[in-house]
Amino acid sequence: MEKAHSIQRTRIKKESVNKMTKKEICEKLEEIDLYTLCRKFARTNGWEYHSGACKECFLINGFPYAIKFVFPTEDEWDEAAQEAMIYEAAKKQGIERIFLFTTLFYVNQAGIKFYIQEKIDTSSCGLSYEAKARLKEKANKKNNKPKVREILYEMKSPPRDDLWTARAYQIYGKKFMQKFAELTNTYGINDLHPGNTGYLNNRPVLLDFAGYHRESFDNYYSS
Ligand SMILES: Nc1ncnc2c1ncn2[C@@H]1O[C@H](COP(=O)(O)OP(=O)(O)OP(=O)(O)O)[C@@H](O)[C@H]1O
Ligand SMILES: [Mg+2]
Repeated sequence: MEKAHSIQRTRIKKESVNKMTKKEICEKLEEIDLYTLCRKFARTNGWEYHSGACKECFLINGFPYAIKFVFPTEDEWDEAAQEAMIYEAAKKQGIERIFLFTTLFYVNQAGIKFYIQEKIDTSSCGLSYEAKARLKEKANKKNNKPKVREILYEMKSPPRDDLWTARAYQIYGKKFMQKFAELTNTYGINDLHPGNTGYLNNRPVLLDFAGYHRESFDNYYSS
């Protein structure tokens, strides 16, 4: 594991508010099985719980990573694992800065695989009106509109938040964004709604980059 993202016990302790060590977190994760109600589990432990169409996510006060996982499915498709794999692929291309560091953290007795991912500061939809206005002002300093549009045309499933893309272009540059567009096409990152794009230290990042590849609702009714 790379040094900057070392998850050694010391670092966790240092950043801990509630002083949970890696061992203690893993002991808690051991309690989760297929029947666990995550919202209740999180409330009981004083953790935050978030979820989307596929993934479950715990945020622990003082722990610098989001803990993400999926409950095993019949086809064994795992969007959290997918994120870890895509992060590595992005790193090979030198464009990991727009993703969030994601890696396997713990596998419990029930076979649930827990991944950790750097925590975002905010998603695109979490930005206040004032914050958006400030970003818009920054983005407009240089008129990159035609160039940003070019990048968006290259993407099969472009991000929906144009302000996020404009800032990404401004910060990371043309070549980086071309590589990014290519990678999103290659790995089917097709679900970039404003809840899946966001910011960390004012840097535009994706917090959900597994794409959505489950059977559609309609398919359940087709047989
Ligand atoms: N790195 C992170 N830092 C902080 N919160 C996160 C992070 N990753 C995920 N979350 C929270 O967990 C929720 C679910 O995670 P994620 O978006 O990855 O799951 P999903 O099921 O694939 O979502 P979708 O419905 O977009 O397909 C997010 O909407 C967000 O609130
Ligand atoms: Mg999401």
